[in-house]
Amino acid sequence: MAETEVNIDYGDYSHTGPGTLAGRYLRSFWQPLYRSHDLKSGKAVTVRALGEDFTLYRGASNQVYAVAPRCAHRGTQLSTGWVEGECIRCFYHGWVYDGSGQCLEQPAEDASFAKKIKIASYPVREYLGLVFVYLGEGKAPELPRFPFIEDVADDECVRLVHVDKKPYPFNYRNGLENSVDPVHVAFVHRNSEYRGLVGCPEVGAEETDYGLILYARRQDGEARVTQFQMPNILFIKQGPRYPGETDWRDFLLWRVPVDDESFRGFRIILAHIKGEAAERFREQEEGFMAQDPAPSIAEDVLASKMHVDEITDLRLAVTVQDYVAQKGQGVIYDRTSERLGRSDAGVILLRKIYARELRALAEGKPPTKWAVLRPAATIGGLSSLAQ
Ligand code: FES
Ligand SMILES: [Fe+2]
Repeated sequence: MAETEVNIDYGDYSHTGPGTLAGRYLRSFWQPLYRSHDLKSGKAVTVRALGEDFTLYRGASNQVYAVAPRCAHRGTQLSTGWVEGECIRCFYHGWVYDGSGQCLEQPAEDASFAKKIKIASYPVREYLGLVFVYLGEGKAPELPRFPFIEDVADDECVRLVHVDKKPYPFNYRNGLENSVDPVHVAFVHRNSEYRGLVGCPEVGAEETDYGLILYARRQDGEARVTQFQMPNILFIKQGPRYPGETDWRDFLLWRVPVDDESFRGFRIILAHIKGEAAERFREQEEGFMAQDPAPSIAEDVLASKMHVDEITDLRLAVTVQDYVAQKGQGVIYDRTSERLGRSDAGVILLRKIYARELRALAEGKPPTKWAVLRPAATIGGLSSLAQ
């Protein structure tokens, strides 16, 4: 008798294109797709996320709209056209669409059938300097807000918003699973600004109402805490490291697949620095981020042209090191040959959660409704956090 059972791999959350289970899951959350500052009024851009293209444009009122990538007429790329008021005019033959995707004008048609033409459109919100888009089915959920980042007065802190100019050329899951793997810090970052974190920690991982919390307990009794907001957000606290910095930094990172072979990081960094020091810090950080030299150095390491330990800039080293470890696994790598141990508790827990959520989605059951994380230092009762 023919085998009829179809085994769905609920553990596969590497593939996120249209129609995939993990793709549907990620689309059920708001995802950042662009940096607000980079999308000026009257401009349109094409962005790729989750294996699909979209048009983003900012209208005259400053509102951002997300619509389909191509014109319904003869399919050219809408972002090459003109933003007119709150609408976008196609470059090819001048059809006009509003922000809901409704066609309003067909200049070359004397009997216009514009009413019958509507292209896809998606809800958009701007928050923390990022453009968030809801690409999922049905009504958009509420946009999660992070009050601990939002509610700090502007003259008390510096908020940096950084979006990778070039996508990382490997699957986003390598990045996510690196975030829940605290042991890597002791090796990958042994020669970096994290070099104080020596020795293998004991790893504890727990599911929470927002996702996961990881404790990496070291022999000196300190614990490094990592929080992971489902489905793709890392949150860590980073110790003060800049002159004049008075408190721990908040670091939020979304990893959003561009396609299955690349992803972009969207980072919000909140540093407690005031006055002149704040301006110097902002300039230095923005200069550092604009250069983005890590990928080319990391590729040289992977091509055996150099070793990571030859990097003398300890700040730059961190980014290169993470890239090397994660791309070193392969672009989309076969996890069935892995040999996991107890120290992989975070990776194992993240996979279990994803598998459970994807199974629920496939079976038409409601997936978990996640709360928004609160920084663990205020709720976990931990005596100390270390970098
Ligand atoms: S392709 Fe857009 S108007 Fe013709
Ligand atoms: Fe790392």
